Amino acid sequence: MPYKLLFVCLGNICRSPAAENIMNYLIEEAGLSDTIVCDSAGTSSYHVGSPPDRRMTVAANSKLGIKMCGHARQFKRSDFQDFDLILAMDKENYNNILYLDPNGQYREKVRLMCDFCSHHTLKEVPDPYYGGTDGFEKVIDLLNDACEGLLKYVIKQQA
Ligand code: 4NP
Repeated sequence: MPYKLLFVCLGNICRSPAAENIMNYLIEEAGLSDTIVCDSAGTSSYHVGSPPDRRMTVAANSKLGIKMCGHARQFKRSDFQDFDLILAMDKENYNNILYLDPNGQYREKVRLMCDFCSHHTLKEVPDPYYGGTDGFEKVIDLLNDACEGLLKYVIKQQA
């Protein structure tokens, strides 16, 4: 059974699809596509069905040469069972996810993405939606750092 990762933000059009696409890139590079799989979701339904935000697609391509794909969907309760690890981009996402698990049964599966950073000290991935190009590029840098740490973590978990 592959190890399953789910990245979660608010809209599932900026941060979490970027995390998913960066992580898939690193997984492919490591030759681990059969053993680690990724998906992403939003806590809101605002953008269900939409492709990643163009500004994030441009930033991922210009900073890392990554082509983004996917369509937004909303986080659902069954995701708790379907995934091994759920990565929240910020504390609001984290709290909104855990709100759907009132008994705390899946609490251990939910983590903040920035816990896996080794070069950045930010505790949350900032919401770039209402800002400029710079904000999107910073998110890409931060997520690349977190994804590298996350890949090492998952490899250790599987060993
Ligand atoms: P994301 O960014 O949560 O990283 O996908 C946002 C996308 C849409 C909105 C806010 C944040 N919005 O308010 O529509």
